[in-house]
Amino acid sequence: MSLRVLIYGVGPIGALLARYALRKGYEITGAVDIDPEKVGKDLGDVIGLDEKLGVIVQKDPDKAFEPVKPDIVLHATTSWLDKALPQIVLSIKKGANVISTCETLSYPYYRYPWLAELLDNYARRHEVTVLGTGINPGFLLDTLPAILSLPHIQVDHIRAIRVVDAGKRRKSFQKKIGLGLTVEEFNEKMSRGEITAHVGFAESVFLLSKIMGLKITRVEEKQEPVVSEAEYKTQYYEIKPGTIRGVKGMGIGYSGDKEIVRIEFHALVGSEEYEEIIVEGEPTVKWRSTGTPGDQGTAAVIVNMAPRVVEASSGLKTMADFVKASYLLHI
Ligand SMILES: NC(=O)c1ccc[n+]([C@@H]2O[C@H](COP(=O)([O-])OP(=O)(O)OC[C@H]3O[C@@H](n4cnc5c(N)ncnc54)[C@H](OP(=O)(O)O)[C@@H]3O)[C@@H](O)[C@H]2O)c1
Repeated sequence: MSLRVLIYGVGPIGALLARYALRKGYEITGAVDIDPEKVGKDLGDVIGLDEKLGVIVQKDPDKAFEPVKPDIVLHATTSWLDKALPQIVLSIKKGANVISTCETLSYPYYRYPWLAELLDNYARRHEVTVLGTGINPGFLLDTLPAILSLPHIQVDHIRAIRVVDAGKRRKSFQKKIGLGLTVEEFNEKMSRGEITAHVGFAESVFLLSKIMGLKITRVEEKQEPVVSEAEYKTQYYEIKPGTIRGVKGMGIGYSGDKEIVRIEFHALVGSEEYEEIIVEGEPTVKWRSTGTPGDQGTAAVIVNMAPRVVEASSGLKTMADFVKASYLLHI
């Protein structure tokens, strides 16, 4: 499907989105960013291509939507829906569908139920579709385990773990998990909201449960830094013994007092990478992968889902709507 796309946010993920959109044969009609280093430059230069694309990165989003209206906005600016809201609302008002890496948009009914309702109404009124997705949340710890549960006649518990080598990730990722900080610095920055570590544990638990039709009554989220015993060096940070090498976090979903879903994400410099999904029930099965590159995976999920979003009925969607619409799962 040939698509006209606008890149909203040209950070490392937005840059990958632009590259992958071009590989898919999509036409990039505009780009928006607020970073003065990028504004006014050709998108090709900003994302490190050898050629100009004839698309100037605009600070003023109104200018980026002219002269050609995009079919869909590929959005990658923030993890928080309240911050992303004006950008998404403007895109809808311009008549464009939106697909976003915003973690809290992947299941917005948990943290922002009132914004979810507003976005759904607004998108319907303008006959466009809005979806938040990515690799995590969006696929590895929610959509994928739900799909893997299909051959089970009874599911008692699902556990999904993802371990990544944080040293291989982009700078903004390494920064948000506090690499090289002391535990005190990490806790201080977390409490000030200066860093977030992983965002989206509860969203993944709810998304997985929604696809499978599980009744979750309570979700717990936990996250803690991991202190290094050795020295490590990434492209961006030096990690001395006693400083932070990564984070381990989890989301646990309960039905009443019973734990039925547990997802974990460990991002540690120097770690072996894998995903492991254990579906307990009848039968009990363990799946294990060799690891999925997170940044490339996110960009691929977004550009692969973009045509589906354009074709979908209007309103606010989650990955649950797309999995169910595929008739893959009858649960
Ligand atoms: N769901 C998933 O699986 C998944 C996976 C990867 C990433 N993500 C999320 O995707 C988002 C993008 O990732 P990233 O690493 O590329 O983030 P990033 O390094 O923070 O880049 C975001 C870019 O957007 C710009 N920006 C911020 N606010 C803007 C606004 N109001 N209008 C236009 N541009 C704006 C930023 O400019 P400044 O630098 O000047 O602020 C920056 O250039 C993050 O929130 C990340 O957590 C989700």
